[in-house]
Amino acid sequence: MTAEPLVTASLPSNLDRDRLPHHVAVIMDGNGRWAQRRSLPRIMGHRRGVDTLKKLLRTCNDWGIGALTAYAFSTENWGRPHTEVDFLMTLFERVLRQELAEMDAEGVRIQFVGHLESLPVSLQTEIDRAVQQTRDNPGIRFTVATNYGGRQEIVQACQAIATQVQLGKLAPEDIDENLFSRHLYTAGSTDPDLLIRTSGEMRISNFLLWQLAYAELYVTDTLWPDFDLAEFQQALSDYQQRHRRFGKL
Ligand code: FPP
Repeated sequence: MTAEPLVTASLPSNLDRDRLPHHVAVIMDGNGRWAQRRSLPRIMGHRRGVDTLKKLLRTCNDWGIGALTAYAFSTENWGRPHTEVDFLMTLFERVLRQELAEMDAEGVRIQFVGHLESLPVSLQTEIDRAVQQTRDNPGIRFTVATNYGGRQEIVQACQAIATQVQLGKLAPEDIDENLFSRHLYTAGSTDPDLLIRTSGEMRISNFLLWQLAYAELYVTDTLWPDFDLAEFQQALSDYQQRHRRFGKL
């Protein structure tokens, strides 16, 4: 990816700054189909997908959105052909290496969620570097879900809490939603206000099962590599029409 001019700095006039979502989450679906429709190998779709993500991150940061979480690789994605999995792991590593300085300069705070221990060691090294280098940055919190599964996250939280109960450090009645949240990978982060899914599928695919409880959903038929600024503006405008009730009247 090459550096691009900052063209998104000001918020479009049809959007209300005070009613922007604080936290946007994205399921970046449709990379493979985007490539196949052009008779290209699927990996070309993932490459283009990185460009889309980079532009979205910059836009969110420029517009004052506090957090962006992207679903990059699910625990189920290991079931893809080895060549595609290897390509994705190498792509994540390369993108992190190449983009870190620029993201750091733009104030982005990077974090990863998922079962990171089973990722390639060289990728874990780049992840650690990116997280450490950007941990005190003041800008957007950018979370990449990698080898992430919502059910697995909930199970590991249960195990950690059960261990504390077994050790006598915690009583069962101490377990409440706050305590549970603090044992998830996303401890300390706010829940997403808006979930965007591209390529038209109406499901959440094991993504942030706990955290998305009250998120507004926006699904578009657009494939991820084609998800541009106009689409994002549409998603935000749609979000601003919603009346969020959080289960109340
Ligand atoms: C889903 O499309 C997309 C993925 C599994 C990978 C998404 C990853 C990126 C865009 C790279 C992000 C990079 C970093 C460093 C965070 P699909 O392959 O399922 O598409 P299909 O449904 O059309 O087959």
